[in-house]
Amino acid sequence: MSNNLLSTLTLGSITLSNRMVMAPLTRNRAPEGIATDLMAEYYAQRASAGLIVTEGAQISAQGVGYPATPGIFNDTQIEAWKAVTHAVHDKGGRIFVQLWHCGRISHPDFHDGALPVAPSAIKPQGQAFTYAGMKDFVTPRALSVDEIAAIVQDYRDAAACAMQAGFDGVEIHAANGYLIDQFLRDGSNQRHDKYGGSIENRARFLLEVTQAIGEEIGAEQVGVRISPVNAFNDMNDSAPQSLFEYIAMALSKLKPVYLHVVEVSLMGEADSSVDVLPLRKAFDGCYIANGGYDKARGNQVIADSKADLVAYGVPFLANPDLPERFKQNAALNEADQTTFYGGDEHGYTDYPSLS
Ligand code: PHB
Repeated sequence: MSNNLLSTLTLGSITLSNRMVMAPLTRNRAPEGIATDLMAEYYAQRASAGLIVTEGAQISAQGVGYPATPGIFNDTQIEAWKAVTHAVHDKGGRIFVQLWHCGRISHPDFHDGALPVAPSAIKPQGQAFTYAGMKDFVTPRALSVDEIAAIVQDYRDAAACAMQAGFDGVEIHAANGYLIDQFLRDGSNQRHDKYGGSIENRARFLLEVTQAIGEEIGAEQVGVRISPVNAFNDMNDSAPQSLFEYIAMALSKLKPVYLHVVEVSLMGEADSSVDVLPLRKAFDGCYIANGGYDKARGNQVIADSKADLVAYGVPFLANPDLPERFKQNAALNEADQTTFYGGDEHGYTDYPSLS
């Protein structure tokens, strides 16, 4: 019999009770960058996901780009995350933390007036969400080679913090226009050194981060998320098919346990089309498909072996018991967009489960 969304899966050294992943979702409910008991309750409510990937968590103060997003780089943050991992594990769930550096998708307001950093000094179109409302993005400062090495070390240290906090693994956020993605795509990377120019050079930073984290915590506890077609955050690339096929192939050699692919554009039109099947084939590990899947398409992509897991974002946000609802063919709660970012338990921990 072929597999479906509710089949188990072995992911590295852990067993997932089903193939439904809760996708990372920024919720801006971590004041001062510290996870709260309410966050523990929210994630525990969703512990029936085969795997939870948390909202992005900054690897350093420099990585911050939004209000009230959590960090994973100091002892206070580690202690706070322990409540989250314990609550999820107590309910039999599995949870990876997403390691995030926003790069140029930030604002001097988050950095005591200093410029956000990026591969190149190229200003993204659009505006940052700051504590004082929307403000135009600024032209970031281009990183030096020494600073890039220090950021690789920050990723490694953050992965060690994640293990101390009790996570089952980490997901490297290389998607959606944030720092690593800014290195990958030539619309935002115009460097002339070993981190810019050719596809191999633009992928170098991601590969160094993946290698360093794998050395630190073991590659079977590391996943990588990419978004080959996503134009969100003013991203574009002149040859995304060959770029991302190279990345899937080169990552394979470092043996991260999964490749998580945002297959759609989060905002605006995709700037080009990418066929994701060659990425799935080039990557020698589990493939997580994400982007607008419902139950039928999720089951189909798994039955066809085009993915091993399917990540659901908004459906999990609004339905804490999404696997049970799929099992029973039950109706789904509607998501309330007005409570996605910031606020309290309303629109966060008060979505009902089936009784
Ligand atoms: C967002 O806050 O809108 C956001 C954050 C991280 C992502 C995508 C979107 O990867």
